[in-house]
Amino acid sequence: MSSIFTAGGSADAIPIWFVTAASYPEVRQRLDAPARAFADAAGFEPKPGQHLLLPGKAGIGGVLFGLEAADDAKDLFLAGRLPQHLPAGVFRFANDPHDARLAALAFALGCYGFARYRKPEGRAIKLDPPQSVDREDLARVVAAVTLARDLINTPANDMGPVQLEEAARALAARYRADIRVTVGDDLLRENYPLVHAVGRASAGAPRMIELTWGEAGDPRVSLVGKGVCFDSGGLDIKSDSAMLLMKKDMGGAATVLALAQMIMDRKLKVRLAVHIPAVENAISGAAYRPRDVYRSRKGLTVEIGNTDAEGRLVLADALARADESAPELLIDMGTLTGAARVALGPDLPPFYTQDQALAEALARHATAENDPLWRLPLWQPYDAMLDSKVADLNNVASNGFAGSILCALFLQRFVERAKAWLHLDIFAWTPTAKPGRPEGGECQAARAVYALLVERYG
Ligand code: BES
Ligand code: MN
Ligand code: ZN
Repeated sequence: MSSIFTAGGSADAIPIWFVTAASYPEVRQRLDAPARAFADAAGFEPKPGQHLLLPGKAGIGGVLFGLEAADDAKDLFLAGRLPQHLPAGVFRFANDPHDARLAALAFALGCYGFARYRKPEGRAIKLDPPQSVDREDLARVVAAVTLARDLINTPANDMGPVQLEEAARALAARYRADIRVTVGDDLLRENYPLVHAVGRASAGAPRMIELTWGEAGDPRVSLVGKGVCFDSGGLDIKSDSAMLLMKKDMGGAATVLALAQMIMDRKLKVRLAVHIPAVENAISGAAYRPRDVYRSRKGLTVEIGNTDAEGRLVLADALARADESAPELLIDMGTLTGAARVALGPDLPPFYTQDQALAEALARHATAENDPLWRLPLWQPYDAMLDSKVADLNNVASNGFAGSILCALFLQRFVERAKAWLHLDIFAWTPTAKPGRPEGGECQAARAVYALLVERYG
């Protein structure tokens, strides 16, 4: 993939001037006389998000871009709006925005377009990032986010369990990771009964994808991602509007692949394992049914209260598998509940952990990376809502309360040996474009977790 960043030292890169109401008078003085006169005549005002292309000797001489005042609540991704307004060319930052690294990142992420099925609309824009920024790491993060977005945006006819396996294999090959995939009825022989039950109705056979990388003696970090390539709801079928976005239901898998790519590319000192149950929640004569009971990998019997709560089922077996090696850190992510969106909206995924230090560190990195996350409780008193009259537990609560918490409590039953467990109920989608976040598939939480891992294992 070609980077939007230049190798550096582009002498004729077009300068972008970041200005606030307070700094504009001084910056205005630094412009050459024709540019200053042009800005005045055009009536430029240094308001957040405002931009103006300035004339130069041979075309565009510079760009003015308004930011929030230093003490305001800031969108540190605001510079991600710039690429939409710029013509093709190489640009550089003439002065420092509030956070140069995040501004450069947002600029790059704002250039993204999903180009698989038609020519991209974007222009050829390049950025010569400021000297203060780690160019290599910036490119690493942009490449990973791009991978996740592309996987999520690809519709289910081209991103079923087979193609998700191919994406994992491509990643493994690139970083010389080991990969093992268990497909179809082999899932029963290898003891993944819930993955099999959820995925068996689809023409694309269900599978468990397992990627491992790193030195055996290094601390074990295990990632689990929900890979439901399409969620029709199963026999408890979704409405048309609820089904419309369900190509993104493998967002957890896409995000852990992106995170794994960053970890391996950065060569973090960890023994990495990635577990992805890849299935389609489809409808056929073979579909699993409400009131079916399955013995899970862990041995707990699960009664199916609703076939649309399939994500926690496939994650239960995958978590049980990951937990067997007693990792130092076990992280799972998935697009698990609509309830998380009711509680916190599309841009603020909830996370769950009993590890206080981990929660504090993650919240800190989420803020620092502008990859927002919010902690919700593993509220033990609600655990009884998952009681079943015939099995060890039901996959849903009958009353509909606290949906995201109940899902987290369900998953918690399948984790016991991991030193720390972190669960994220992500949305993996931007419904309306924001700076640096084009409408469509989004890589949520991976940058925050990556920053935490770099701090611990870098
Ligand atoms: N994939 C959905 C959750 C989802 C829906 C995420 C919309 C993002 C946007 C999940 O498999 C699901 O259907 N969950 C049900 C659970 C319910 C049956 C307990 C839900 O949230 O309605
Ligand atoms: Mn579902
Ligand atoms: Zn789902």
